[in-house]
Amino acid sequence: MNQREIFLRHVAQTSPAPLALEITKASGVTLYAADGKTYTDLIGGISVANMGHGHPAVLAAIRAQSEAYLHIMVYGEFVESPQVRYAQQLASLLPASLNSVYFTNSGAEAVEGAMKLAKRVTRRTGIIAFNNSYHGSTQGALSIIGDEYWRNAYRPLLPDVSHLEYNSFASLDSITDRTACVFAETVQAEAGVKPPSVEWMKALREKCTTTGTLLVLDEIQTGFGRTGTLWGFEQYGIVPDILLLGKALGGGLPLGAFIADRALMGMLAENPVLGHITTFGGHPLSCAAGSAALQAMLEEKVVEQVETKGRLLDSLLSHPLILGRSRAGLWLSLRFDTFETNKWIIDRCIAKGILTDWFLFASDSLRISPPLIITEAQLREVAATLLSVLDEYQREFLPGK
Ligand SMILES: Cc1ncc(COP(=O)(O)O)c(C=O)c1O
Repeated sequence: MNQREIFLRHVAQTSPAPLALEITKASGVTLYAADGKTYTDLIGGISVANMGHGHPAVLAAIRAQSEAYLHIMVYGEFVESPQVRYAQQLASLLPASLNSVYFTNSGAEAVEGAMKLAKRVTRRTGIIAFNNSYHGSTQGALSIIGDEYWRNAYRPLLPDVSHLEYNSFASLDSITDRTACVFAETVQAEAGVKPPSVEWMKALREKCTTTGTLLVLDEIQTGFGRTGTLWGFEQYGIVPDILLLGKALGGGLPLGAFIADRALMGMLAENPVLGHITTFGGHPLSCAAGSAALQAMLEEKVVEQVETKGRLLDSLLSHPLILGRSRAGLWLSLRFDTFETNKWIIDRCIAKGILTDWFLFASDSLRISPPLIITEAQLREVAATLLSVLDEYQREFLPGK
């Protein structure tokens, strides 16, 4: 059996058609496959590799920490300097009320922790989330994702959860003094990069404040520069009560976090104590890697270039097959007529050495979320290849047009 066959037999499968590329090395924006092919990575591990693959500062931090210690104790008992350093670094880059960082293993675990914290703080049970939002795949996170197709097979789900229309002022009437928290993405990622209006975000913040509801912003995809500012919420002039981070947070290693004010977070330490327990949350290697990636992002002034790069790519990608588009920073969604068209284009892109895919709740739309360190020359190359694929589609299926 070759590697691919062993993968299909012994690595649990959740997709009838996994990409099944065998990658042997990843560096910068390039993935190197076992068969000698190379790919420009326009996915970045789904907005994880914002600083590219194998950044030297991240690798050095991992090396140094691995020689000091790996796991030594469950979360929260020992003073582990990678956690301490990273929590302080994050707090220094966030508004004053986001000063206490609970590190988890994953984004979904951060969602779970935030739900529990909101229930403890407000002593309420109602949870509100939005249609077409993605928050993770554990039983609690699944309960709040905004798509019935993905939820339905796993009922019963959490009780007292309601889903509202995103970016709709009428929806806000459903937030009441029974609501513990509202979960919202700062830009809806899997809906196909859908930013709400500034006015709506401000109204959402206001409604949460007046009803005593905690506003939880999921920045697991939007964080770390993706949308053109370090944190997505900066563009709306609001501050959440709880901030969720993940993906790029670990610099390529697994890490999530929910972040709130110390006064709220303290509720997890009493009645019962150990209000959220995790063995590996805040793993020293992950914190060391994430902190190094963030430091490099700041030193290399990566975020400052995101908007210019995103605008450039957007301007290069003009084609009659593209029926709609949406962008936030260096994050694009291109809509075609059907999933089948999109899939044909994605497959041809992969054959031509560009790795991309579609969005969970927008399968007719192509995802472009490259490492933020991609250069303008690389963006021009990618755009030329993508346009050549669209021309090819047109010649093959719409010859008269
Ligand atoms: C916006 C958002 N929230 C939460 C999650 C869940 O994170 P994880 O897969 O690390 O559990 C994801 C993952 O794709 C996400 O995109």
